[in-house]
Amino acid sequence: MNWLNDNVNLLALIGAAAIIIISVVVVGKYIKQIKTDKSTGELADENWDGIGEYKNPLPIGWAISFLLSIAWALWYFLAGYPLNGYSQIGEYNEEVAAYNTKFESKWANPDEETLLGMGEGVFLVQCAPCHGITGDGINGKAADFTAWGTESALVETILKGSKGMNYPLGEMPAGLLDKDSAKAVAAYMVEKVTKTGTANPDLVSMGEALWATCTACHGADAKGMGGSAPDISAYGKPGFVVDVLNHGKKGFIGNMPSFNDGRLTDIQKLAVGKYVNSLTQ
Ligand code: HEC
Ligand code: HEC
Repeated sequence: MNWLNDNVNLLALIGAAAIIIISVVVVGKYIKQIKTDKSTGELADENWDGIGEYKNPLPIGWAISFLLSIAWALWYFLAGYPLNGYSQIGEYNEEVAAYNTKFESKWANPDEETLLGMGEGVFLVQCAPCHGITGDGINGKAADFTAWGTESALVETILKGSKGMNYPLGEMPAGLLDKDSAKAVAAYMVEKVTKTGTANPDLVSMGEALWATCTACHGADAKGMGGSAPDISAYGKPGFVVDVLNHGKKGFIGNMPSFNDGRLTDIQKLAVGKYVNSLTQ
């Protein structure tokens, strides 16, 4: 009998036997008493259709246990359960937190290749449903990453403006510059500010002359004046994708939720940022 080897089972069995024996003895005692007892004592004044009531005092042990059980119930309801109670959700949250800490320390300093692989994994699960497996934006349903963040995308942004990341400065207006000027500023910005390199080096000096249009909102260092506007010195780099993930975007194409809800760790955001930038052709 295997289950008898279990201490808890055995304890429960002994307990059950004890309860049965005590019940039989106690019930037997009272049945015997009912048969032989003669009622004695002083009757109360009340009388209900011939049924009277003895003026017996409350048994002291019973009264104490009654009061104690009220005190216990109050303690249990107000402090015992809320403070010590086991909760499955609590256990789940603790396990997730412990896992995340382990995850963060294990991947604190991943090399480039690991980061890109992690980014691809995150992308396929979290981003591909809207942006497409290849990141092409599924026919305009979301941003097309094969073009986003490039010099020509920057020209588009300057011409069309930008909205939906919920910065204090609000929207970036459309038509700040005409097309040629926009191209020149874009050339200057990617060459000198983000330093990702321009395809139009001859436009850089013209763009420099117009750059003040942009610094008015984005700050002289292009870092967004302490959070008033996006830090465009990170444009076309993983840091800018992380910025989008933290803000979300309700733009011209549609809505992208913010990922600032603990779904992704900082390292996962950086990884998917790197992966998104790697999709640009
Ligand atoms: C009136 C203030 C203002 C000016 C002037 C301005 N910007 Fe912006 N810019 C913003 C704000 C605000 C945002 C964030 C908009 C959003 O929510 O997407 C932004 C966003 C951007 C973005 C990010 C777009 C994206 O894909 O998310 C780029 C790049 C950018 N600006 C470049 C420029 C350049 C280059 C210039 C100069 C020609 C310029 N901005 C001038 C306010 C401005
Ligand atoms: C629910 C659909 C949805 C999901 C999921 C989603 N996106 Fe987006 N994303 C969009 C849409 C729509 C846009 C275009 C917003 C616009 O410009 O109108 C967008 C735009 C972007 C942009 C460009 C924002 C800009 O400023 O121009 C980036 C970067 C981006 N997404 C990254 C990601 C990454 C990385 C993930 C996965 C972690 C992701 N998105 C998941 C819908 C989504």
